[in-house]
Amino acid sequence: MKETLVWTVQPDHLNQSTLEAAGALLRAGKLVAFPTETVYGLGANALDEQAVAGIFKAKGRPATNPLIVHIASLGQVSEVASIWPEAAQKLAARYWPGPLTLIVPKAQGIPLVVTAGGPTVGVRMPAHPVALALLQAAQVPVAAPSANRSTEISPTTARHVLKGLKGRVDLVVDGGPTQVGIESTVLDVSGEVPILWREGMISRTELEQVIGPVKTPAAAHNRQGPAASPGQERKHYAPKAEVLLQPFGQPETIAETIRAMLTTGIAPSQIGALTISPLRFQTPVAIYHETLPLEASRYAERLYGTLHHLEDQGVTHLVIEAVPAGSQWDGIRDRLQRAAAK
Ligand code: TXA
Ligand code: MG
Repeated sequence: MKETLVWTVQPDHLNQSTLEAAGALLRAGKLVAFPTETVYGLGANALDEQAVAGIFKAKGRPATNPLIVHIASLGQVSEVASIWPEAAQKLAARYWPGPLTLIVPKAQGIPLVVTAGGPTVGVRMPAHPVALALLQAAQVPVAAPSANRSTEISPTTARHVLKGLKGRVDLVVDGGPTQVGIESTVLDVSGEVPILWREGMISRTELEQVIGPVKTPAAAHNRQGPAASPGQERKHYAPKAEVLLQPFGQPETIAETIRAMLTTGIAPSQIGALTISPLRFQTPVAIYHETLPLEASRYAERLYGTLHHLEDQGVTHLVIEAVPAGSQWDGIRDRLQRAAAK
């Protein structure tokens, strides 16, 4: 066990000496968790093989799942990527800093532990003042997965990070709750046709407006045979409770489902419900019920915090209302489906 330090840095009042000290820890090979606009990341110097190996150990992450490298400026791209395709340039101009990871051919200086042995690397410039200032202070590209134990819910606060990683990381930089709320969109622009490996709050529709047609992994599989889709296990963003996904806009069905669960002997305090629609019961039931707004960006911002909260209540069964159709909901729909995957 390590001693885990926690240092607060206000996003609107950056404390340079704290950031310099945190940057020096990263340079020295330490593990530093920090806020990005999506979720908290668990960072290590991307050029330091041993430091990066420490990330996999702290998370219990399989070595076959590659990491995203974070940079503070376009000037750092050449440290990470050997080729910077036109599509990457266009998308970076439009969406960076922001919640978009671009997969490109890796630079020689990036050790294979970062890319899970592969020839490509994920790179992104996060849009969080604390992340950008920390990356600048570190003066090195920083490899960072989400700062949770492997398969658990991603963290959107420093408290969530400590819940999973206290004693396993050297420092947590607390910059308050994150705003985007789900992980970045991951787009592979290393080949002829861009492939959307992971949906996020920047939707396929928005990407296609900048670079034209984008393939989904399923379509890419058909074209290229069984393609490598590292880290795309279906069960990934998983709460500890058993998750049951119900159709959107049918609150009566959800209420009935919960009634049926209660009649099988599951205690009300073991049941959580996460819905957009209001739920009405004929007679009151003492389950944990949370509602989220019918607006994708605000829903995403609160999703993981709400899941962490329900998990902390100790619910063993979680009924979730699916989200509406529409590309702005794609990233959220993907995370809910993964949470429900057996
Ligand atoms: O928003 C985010 O992306 C957060 C913050 C911390 O930046 N990071 C994050 O990292 O979600 P992680 O490790 O939890 O997810 C990285 C995803 C995985 O699905 C991984 O398989 C994919 O990116 N990925 C990374 N490098 C890749 C590569 N070379 N080829 C294909 N997929 C890659
Ligand atoms: Mg993750």
